[in-house]
Amino acid sequence: MAILDKHAILERNVTLLAIFAFLVVTIGGIVQIAPLFWLENTIEDVEGMRPYAPLELAGRDIYVREGCYVCHSQMIRPMRDEVERYGHYSLAAESQYDHPFQWGSKRTGPDLARVGGRYSDDWHLDHLRNPQSVVPESVMPKYGFLENRMIDGKYIQDLMSTHRLVGVPYTDEMLENAQADFTAQSDPDSDFDALLERYPGAQVRNFDGQAGISEADALISYLQMLGTLVDFSTFTPDASR
Ligand code: HEC
Repeated sequence: MAILDKHAILERNVTLLAIFAFLVVTIGGIVQIAPLFWLENTIEDVEGMRPYAPLELAGRDIYVREGCYVCHSQMIRPMRDEVERYGHYSLAAESQYDHPFQWGSKRTGPDLARVGGRYSDDWHLDHLRNPQSVVPESVMPKYGFLENRMIDGKYIQDLMSTHRLVGVPYTDEMLENAQADFTAQSDPDSDFDALLERYPGAQVRNFDGQAGISEADALISYLQMLGTLVDFSTFTPDASR
């Protein structure tokens, strides 16, 4: 065919091939990238998603500091084996308040995107102290020292302001009450109604069972909320997006 004969010219002339390849890639790039400039938001709004409560945010920082993401992903892919093992596939909205996101790229241990509520606080405590005590073949390191490291939330307001700077919608009211909310979440005897109003669905407990707020309290509060905010019995994806 005539057009294919013309293609042979391109195949034999490397400069011409480079020019045409560049043109094709440019058109493809524009088609993919240009619409993003006119969309206000590429993340579908999902009911139930809210910024992290102060204690959870502190726990998330410990998760990052200890490098948990090196062995654990937080991203359930939409494939049958993953969905059957871990639950509903992850939505973009579920990591919209994560800076940086914790999707991870390696699974030495299981995905943690929906680990919230799967185990008791005591199980987490035993598992952090000595993973082999609950899963004998585990290669996860021990993190018992977290229970002995007490934290007071002195810098939690600064941390939240920093997150606000990169787009997390923390309100002035949330910032003002940062330290109070931090303390209230780990104390079931506190007056935590205002905390629940600001952070619906926040779990209020003494997570590590000992007096004071330890890093284990913060980390377990974070683990126990992972994947629990969106109610998948009522969620339907918006196909028009
Ligand atoms: C060297 C790799 C490694 C690191 C680092 C690591 N883990 Fe694990 N983790 C594992 C493995 C392997 C398992 C599966 C066996 C087990 O339950 O201990 C696991 C299991 C878990 C589970 C149970 C998940 C489930 O669905 O059964 C949780 C929760 C967990 N890890 C949290 C953490 C946290 C929090 C950190 C950081 C403080 C961390 N892990 C760091 C390897 C790791």
